[in-house]
Amino acid sequence: MTNFSITNLHPKLADFKSDVIEGLSQEQKRLLPIYFYDEEGSRLFDQICELDEYYPTRTEMKILTQNASAINDLISEPATIIEYGSGSSTKISSLLANSQKIKSYVPIDISLEHLKKSSLDLAENYRRLDVRAFCADYTDQDSLQNIANDDDGNSKIIFFPGSTIGNLAVNDAIALLKNSRILTKGLGQFLLGIDLIKDQERLVAAYDDAQGVTAAFNKNILVRINRELGANFDLDGFSHEAIFNSELNRMEMHLRSLKDQKVELLGQEFTFTNGESIHTESCHKYSLDTFEQFVNKAQMTCQNIFTDENQDFAVVMLRYLDNDL
Ligand code: AVJ
Repeated sequence: MTNFSITNLHPKLADFKSDVIEGLSQEQKRLLPIYFYDEEGSRLFDQICELDEYYPTRTEMKILTQNASAINDLISEPATIIEYGSGSSTKISSLLANSQKIKSYVPIDISLEHLKKSSLDLAENYRRLDVRAFCADYTDQDSLQNIANDDDGNSKIIFFPGSTIGNLAVNDAIALLKNSRILTKGLGQFLLGIDLIKDQERLVAAYDDAQGVTAAFNKNILVRINRELGANFDLDGFSHEAIFNSELNRMEMHLRSLKDQKVELLGQEFTFTNGESIHTESCHKYSLDTFEQFVNKAQMTCQNIFTDENQDFAVVMLRYLDNDL
């Protein structure tokens, strides 16, 4: 395959063991959402994306498809799309199918095998496209610098769909946007998917579906800790909880202990009181009214906002303010 390359920047693997022990030792116990995605967790997440209640995935896909030519009009030629956390590279296809301007695609993901397979498939489907994949952590500045050194001279558009940015606290999200300058030198654009604030009932239902798929996804992190770290979490001793934190504008997932209990993990004992929770995920929601102020903090501005008829989700084309200074 002449239009394909993959570079392994050896992303530092997160340390499951020490992160779990550290998280469970906090006053408010917590586990990091990156650990949801073992094989079973990834399968459950794919199932979540198909649920009636879980609108983000299908709404974003619809926005991308319906606005593909408008998005194409906003980009310069020749263009390189750099995708953060490309996964199966499904969303990029909606743009590629409608653009002759995109000459290169640079997917970045920490999962090497998954990246290899999906980016090679894409290179085979789009022979005219130069696909240069990087196994790397897009939050790591040295890795971004490494990728930036591979500059093809095209104008750059960073693509970060899925409202994955919502997992980050607001200040970390701003830092991520700021750091993207390493790749674009402040000249390119950033195409970002964000989930919008809405009716609390619908938000909660999206994270607490009737079939219990999200509950299984949340609890699977305990299954994983039992299996990989030899812990003895009683799965029936915890319940899945999804709540909207209206002060911080975010959905939170918790696992709430249904009794006083002790869990043993690698020779250490962790105590849970009845009603105490483990905070497992935060998903920040944005409002279109305040989004401009938010991106201004990263010296960026909204060039265009694409949304669905219910304003459930938005895909925003951002550009950098650097050159207006
Ligand atoms: C992958 C972080 C975008 O926040 O909606 C879905 C994860 N968690 N259901 C989201 C998730 C529970 C998802 N993101």
